[in-house]
Amino acid sequence: MSKENLSTVWARAFDIAVERGEGAYLIDRDGRRYLDFTCGIAVANTGHTHPRIVRAIQEQAAKLIHGQIGVVTPQAVLDLTDELRRIVPPELDTYFFANSGAEAIEAAVKLARQATGRTNVIVFEGSFHGRTHLAMAMTTSKNTYRFRYQPLPAGVFVAPYPYCYHCPIARRAMTPAERARLSAGQPDGEGCCGYAIDQLHYVLKTQTAPQETAAMVIEPVLGEGGYVVPPRHFIQTLRRVCDEHGILLVFDEIQTGFGRTGKFFALEHFGVVPDILVMAKGIASGMPLSGVAARRNLMAKWPAGAHGGTYAPNVISAAAAVETIRVLREERLIENSAARGEQLLRGLRELQTHFPALGDVRGLGCMVGVELIDSQGAPDKALTDRLVSRCADQNLLLLTCGTYGNVIRWIPPLIVTEEQIDQALHIFAAALDQIAAQ
Ligand SMILES: Cc1ncc(COP(=O)(O)O)c(C=O)c1O
Repeated sequence: MSKENLSTVWARAFDIAVERGEGAYLIDRDGRRYLDFTCGIAVANTGHTHPRIVRAIQEQAAKLIHGQIGVVTPQAVLDLTDELRRIVPPELDTYFFANSGAEAIEAAVKLARQATGRTNVIVFEGSFHGRTHLAMAMTTSKNTYRFRYQPLPAGVFVAPYPYCYHCPIARRAMTPAERARLSAGQPDGEGCCGYAIDQLHYVLKTQTAPQETAAMVIEPVLGEGGYVVPPRHFIQTLRRVCDEHGILLVFDEIQTGFGRTGKFFALEHFGVVPDILVMAKGIASGMPLSGVAARRNLMAKWPAGAHGGTYAPNVISAAAAVETIRVLREERLIENSAARGEQLLRGLRELQTHFPALGDVRGLGCMVGVELIDSQGAPDKALTDRLVSRCADQNLLLLTCGTYGNVIRWIPPLIVTEEQIDQALHIFAAALDQIAAQ
């Protein structure tokens, strides 16, 4: 089979025929080794083919491959809820599982609608929640994901995400130095101008009344939309607004979960517990699995049979997830994510002092974004693409994100070493040098 037999719908970033993965590396058919800072889009948090995960998958496959949850209760699923309860806020003690992120988002909204008897949801500009129809309606990171699929399901309303670097108020009122400090990657909320919260109140006043709003769904760090860390104050205020109106707060931690931001879940940075927590990607080191966690009394409002599916939770995926959580904890990969993320931010900020094209450097843990701008301060997608391509030539794989495609995202596996981060920074700096010299 040749590549011509693969659908054109996959926008493939690189033309690399990968044969295997090993830790932080992907290896092609000719034995060329690529340092993988894409991590399968924030999935292979434990690194590729971690021996303990491989063993857990093999052992489970030899015991049971499919145990339909509507028929029986597989042991691996019970083990998984036990492990999750050790890392998820204790209030969120009841779980629903699905196969993909989009499915879990749909499930969370269905649960919120059933539990509140309300129809509408509020989402935030630049969010990515998936590609099924409802999830698409909730996704505004780029119109590529919605183009020619309209009309989309109704009842979804969009409020601004607090994107400090582009905040219309902060941009006008602040000096560049103040702006840089505000978007310096720490969710401290110092100096937040309050624009996004004001606009949220406006949406509640003009588009969806609180008493018809079931949920607000937010990525606690914006992913596809540009790797944006919101001020802590914003997330805390969101919690208060939801409480005031009986609206459920849903965190989409599909990309931020399982150690990505230097904590098991990004919610820990903000001191806020949502009503519903949605997880996927890193949960099972690449096996298809997603989950929705909520309080028992909330989950109990979802009647038996009102939702479900044939495959989820797949028991091999569940066994992989159990081992993934143990590896993350026992190998101290959350701590490593925080330390390596700091190292990466330091290195990129140092480069920022030499290359004005690095407009903003931001992130938490091993979820780091670099926003590229031209001499007028406008998004520079052409430069971003050239940099990514040069880095790939030097065996470093990076992805882009952001509405204008001008953010390079750094998402190494959480087993990444200090030397590998230095190596990646070195390759990136050389690419910047080469392009500047042209
Ligand atoms: C924050 C977020 N939500 C939802 C999704 C959708 O997940 P999936 O592609 O597994 O459906 C993604 C995928 O990138 C994501 O990053």
